[in-house]
Amino acid sequence: KREIPVNSEGHYTIGGLDSLELAKEFGTPTIVYDVAKIKEQIAKFKAGFEEENVKYHISYASKAFSSLAMYDLVAKSGIGSDVVSGGELYAALKGGMDPQELEFHGNNKSRAELEMAVDSNVGYIIVDNFYEIDLLNEVLTEKNKTADILLRLAPGIHAETHEYISTGQAKSKFGFDLQSGQASEALEKTLANPRFKVLGVHSHIGSQIFATAGFVEAAKKLMDFLSAWKEKYDFTAEVLNLGGGFGIRYTDQDEPLDVKDFVKIIVEAVKEKSKELNYPMPAIWIEPGRSVVGEAGVSLYTVGSRKDVEGVGSFVAVDGGMGDNIRPALYGAEYDAVLAKDPNAPIAQNASIVGKYCESGDILIKDYDFPKTEPGDVIAMLSTGAYGYVMASNYNRNPRPAIVFVEDGKARLVVKRESYEDMIRNEIL
Ligand code: LLP
Repeated sequence: KREIPVNSEGHYTIGGLDSLELAKEFGTPTIVYDVAKIKEQIAKFKAGFEEENVKYHISYASKAFSSLAMYDLVAKSGIGSDVVSGGELYAALKGGMDPQELEFHGNNKSRAELEMAVDSNVGYIIVDNFYEIDLLNEVLTEKNKTADILLRLAPGIHAETHEYISTGQAKSKFGFDLQSGQASEALEKTLANPRFKVLGVHSHIGSQIFATAGFVEAAKKLMDFLSAWKEKYDFTAEVLNLGGGFGIRYTDQDEPLDVKDFVKIIVEAVKEKSKELNYPMPAIWIEPGRSVVGEAGVSLYTVGSRKDVEGVGSFVAVDGGMGDNIRPALYGAEYDAVLAKDPNAPIAQNASIVGKYCESGDILIKDYDFPKTEPGDVIAMLSTGAYGYVMASNYNRNPRPAIVFVEDGKARLVVKRESYEDMIRNEIL
């Protein structure tokens, strides 16, 4: 079970600060990050590799949560970041990321995005498809430049997770298919072109994965192919990038493996294969997103109206909802929440915690056992740090929430709450 910290007044605390005070100071809905937790996760990932004594590179998958302050934190933590669009690239650079530490991903990068990546000297481009090989070649030729690339492969492995966030299976829009020979063709093409320096291969099998089996299987399969390609093309990969996808705890039913242990199991599998095949040990790269920020984030909401129908059910409505966290509605994702003023108060009701959006599907937590609530109470929804804010919308013209970082007993606003004015800024009357 996860620990629910409280202060001397019995209030739920985030990074040592009173959640009720945070709600008062910054308003609700607000997403609060405990920076120490983010740093701790990064340190654990590093420790896993250090203990295994291998070459590695950690790239934070910033699609999980990005803001200038987050990129700044990542830059100062000494790891890289992956970006998947011109927008993420722009923000990463503005946030102070070293372009050489960036990996550029995406299954349909535009010419403009590739030009931007090349012009800003992005460290690595993860090439996804044949169209991109040609497009990138054109861009590099025009600018008389070269690029360090990895080939994204679809290893044909099914990760046990939600269909929408499973990406490694053969029927996937991402990457060169391994089985059908597409991958070897892509390798042949890129090796033959001096504009490309092929560092290695990449696969990402999915997200919110608890089992190590899929990663181990992917690692072994890619090593087998690399070994065959060494014979055939005299190509030795420097890098084996196994993507992200490490699962986190949303509810007490989730029991994720410590990320340090996760890393060690993957590295061991690659080491074993490297010995078996007599293949030089590649550097192992990973791209964790959710596991870096997910559990560090908490959404604070204020309770408003309620509805009770005898024998049917109860609804407790809060001032946010599917606009700031689409995951329950989109994936059926489950969360836990606590009553900020007294997380240990006895269970007094079974109610769905719902949002303020004009949709019946706007349910944050369905049929939840919860203490007694009154209008004005603050509810803290836990583990909302990943794929919440970044997937937020202005549906119903609700402004996006504020983001606050808490560290060393201090809170600082890192993203302002949107205003009504912000929401009409691009509109022309
Ligand atoms: N690398 C690649 C190539 C990816 O596509 C992803 C996530 C990651 C790394 C990071 O995966 P993570 O460590 O965060 O699991 N919106 C969904 C998740 C989509 C994941 C997309 N790709 C959700 O809310 O569950």
